[in-house]
Amino acid sequence: MKLVQKLGLAIVMLVSMNVVASNQFSAERIAERIAPEANPCVEGQDCKATEVAAAPVAAVAAGPSAKDTYQAKCFACHGTGAAGAPKLGDKAAWVARIAQGDDMLNEHAISGFNAMPPKGGCMDCSDASIKAIVSYMVENSK
Ligand code: HEC
Repeated sequence: MKLVQKLGLAIVMLVSMNVVASNQFSAERIAERIAPEANPCVEGQDCKATEVAAAPVAAVAAGPSAKDTYQAKCFACHGTGAAGAPKLGDKAAWVARIAQGDDMLNEHAISGFNAMPPKGGCMDCSDASIKAIVSYMVENSK
């Protein structure tokens, strides 16, 4: 290989390495790729503003209402009285239960109680959503 050819090859290699470097390994590109997308809050910054802003979005995204979830997950028994379940709106069936207080009702709804399965069988329901349904049931049964 002639010297000119060697130099030419070396230049081509250097240029292509440089292209690779500038495309993939430049500081800006790395920063872009590792930048946190969801939370722009960086350690040392005051992050409260972003948290407060995010909270209402989470509440809106919380999913179906207690009534909808009741219809989907609890109505099969509490709408019909199946398995001896106290029916929604049946004041006589609920008065003594309501008298136990919300904590006991929530505990029974979440952990189960006799023929009442834990969370009414809705294992992907959060405790909070079960509590919301219990209040919905109580409010409509007294
Ligand atoms: C498979 C039928 C069934 C389903 C589904 C069901 N329940 Fe029940 N539930 C019962 C029965 C039966 C009882 C009565 C248990 C007893 O008093 O012995 C009951 C009782 C309750 C009580 C009263 C507990 C107490 O302390 O008196 C609450 C509250 C309750 N259920 C909430 C729910 C909620 C909320 C859902 C839906 C997420 C649900 N249940 C789904 C069968 C069911």
